[in-house]
Amino acid sequence: MADYDETTYGEGIADLYDQFYPSAEPAQIDRLAELAGDGRALELAIGSGRVALPLQARGVDVRGIDASRAMVARLRDKPGGADIPVTMGNFADVAVEGQFDLIYIVFNTFFALRAQEEQIRCFGNVAAHLKPEGCFVIEAFVPDLSRFDRGQRVSVIGLDEDRVRLEASMHDPVRQLVRSKHILLTETGIRFFPVQLRYAWPSELDLMARLAGLTLAERWGGWEQEPFTAQSGRHVSLYKHSNASQ
Ligand SMILES: C[S@@+](CC[C@H](N)C(=O)[O-])C[C@H]1O[C@@H](n2cnc3c(N)ncnc32)[C@H](O)[C@@H]1O
Repeated sequence: MADYDETTYGEGIADLYDQFYPSAEPAQIDRLAELAGDGRALELAIGSGRVALPLQARGVDVRGIDASRAMVARLRDKPGGADIPVTMGNFADVAVEGQFDLIYIVFNTFFALRAQEEQIRCFGNVAAHLKPEGCFVIEAFVPDLSRFDRGQRVSVIGLDEDRVRLEASMHDPVRQLVRSKHILLTETGIRFFPVQLRYAWPSELDLMARLAGLTLAERWGGWEQEPFTAQSGRHVSLYKHSNASQ
């Protein structure tokens, strides 16, 4: 995995991504549409448009950033996909013009930035592109280190009539880095999909936000605005400029 970079995940999985992860939760689209209002929205790591396309269909002015040409090609092939402006590059740079009412990153993808410094840099660049009353939304899992036994884990993540999907992972608790291969087994062969994530607890994300001049405004346990509790497996966190009116 020596050559893993920001393009690796998307380039590897693009042809099967929409089969593995078909559609966005309706409540996710509802909340993001409410937060965008009549304004401009930016999705970090837009991928094949699983979230951006239904948001666009709701009338939201949405654009995106992604590093993988293969993932963006999937977006372009879908109805409406050619109309969404996409900037190619590392989303940590937020290398786009202008400011936004909503910037969001879902499906744990903030953790695709594999070093704390890169995650801090991303927060800083997001803050610079957020309008004064704008909102930055992160959806991510709450780390659960009990998943790992002596630094490793092998598990079944999908089982169909004609295929099995496994995940083999190594955990480095010092770097908070999980290096995985998703393994697809079919009668015709085996495919590997590399994934690397640098996880962070919600409290670390809040601290990174503060470094960028952002403050946690709300945290839900899911898109239905469930309360976030010690049992929550994921969180939806909303950050605003620290000096924004509450
Ligand atoms: C799990 S997919 C999520 C796509 C979409 N947001 C969704 O919810 O379906 C992760 C996406 O992040 C992109 N990605 C990963 N690291 C990136 C980086 N550092 N900069 C830009 N894109 C990145 C991949 O190319 C891929 O399209």
